[in-house]
Amino acid sequence: MADKKIIAVVGATGAQGSGLVRAIMSDVNSDFTARALTRNVNSDKAKELAELGAEVVTADVDNLESLKKAFQGAYGAFCVTFFWEHFSPEKEFAQAKAMATAAKDDGLEHIIWSTLEDTRQWIPLSDSRMPTLMGHYKVPHLDAKGEANQVFTELALPTTFLLTSFYWENFIYFGMGPKKGPDGKLAITMPMGDKKLPGIAAEDIGKCAYGIFKKGREFIGKTIGIAGEHLTGAQMAEALTKALGQEVGYNDVPPEVYRSLGFPGADDLGNMFQFNRDFAQDFCGARNLDVTRGLNPSLQTFEQWLSQNKSRIPLG
Ligand SMILES: NC(=O)c1ccc[n+]([C@@H]2O[C@H](COP(=O)([O-])OP(=O)(O)OC[C@H]3O[C@@H](n4cnc5c(N)ncnc54)[C@H](OP(=O)(O)O)[C@@H]3O)[C@@H](O)[C@H]2O)c1
Repeated sequence: MADKKIIAVVGATGAQGSGLVRAIMSDVNSDFTARALTRNVNSDKAKELAELGAEVVTADVDNLESLKKAFQGAYGAFCVTFFWEHFSPEKEFAQAKAMATAAKDDGLEHIIWSTLEDTRQWIPLSDSRMPTLMGHYKVPHLDAKGEANQVFTELALPTTFLLTSFYWENFIYFGMGPKKGPDGKLAITMPMGDKKLPGIAAEDIGKCAYGIFKKGREFIGKTIGIAGEHLTGAQMAEALTKALGQEVGYNDVPPEVYRSLGFPGADDLGNMFQFNRDFAQDFCGARNLDVTRGLNPSLQTFEQWLSQNKSRIPLG
């Protein structure tokens, strides 16, 4: 254990980070071991990671000194931010900067930054196809991540920029599962038209990140997009219908209708789906399925994910 390379995992109790900790700790012959960062080492999720053999340490991404301490002696770090905890792109940028600064200070050899596109490179703020949000963004929870790429670059950190995809878990936890319409029929609602949305099982993100750490220098300085499948709303509805044994339709509303649904972040997600729809070729093109499977040979398709998770999907 002592000679294994330590990967410090931010968000280790969360969707992306826990997949990485589990991938590392379940590989008994690994050259790596995981250091799980959490704000609460006594939570059930943190204890589960300790039981897997991971070192569990306290750190808060809002506290630079705690990050420096948590990264000390590590070979690498997996860095992710938590937009939906605070809905602030500026805070997300500051947290990315703190992680990059700590990684620089501790001389880490490989950082994976879990990022997304800065959509303003496709739709400048002056473009009226979608509203500008919070004064400076088109898709706040994507743009600040993409903008923060420069922090890692400017510090000349040995970084792999990991472009993630829509988690299929959003059908379980994020209120995006099939809901009954006025006609009593179940449907998923996404303003995607007939365009494909790259999706992934959340745990596969961590498995891919592990694949990247294992490849080492080959992926430093590169941007790697990952997805389990690229599917249209109609294809997702069809797979849900098959898995759940009851009909699920696809409700393709216009983005402006989605933006006005009224839940927190509806405008941000409406713009995100519109971006994914209008630039589907670029967004899917950046997430190659063969490359993803090369990093993670057990990569799940939506159908495989559904066979394991269908009973967890709430049917509203
Ligand atoms: N949902 C999607 O489809 C999707 C797709 C692509 C990207 N994303 C992005 O994924 C990011 C979230 O990642 P995730 O889904 O892995 O998160 P998650 O499952 O919501 O977990 C977040 C974890 O982060 C930790 N955390 C929260 N605030 C922290 C802080 N201040 N300092 C240290 N740790 C903190 C929490 O752990 P403790 O309580 O143990 O500290 C929590 O377990 C978001 O930025 C989102 O935009 C989401």
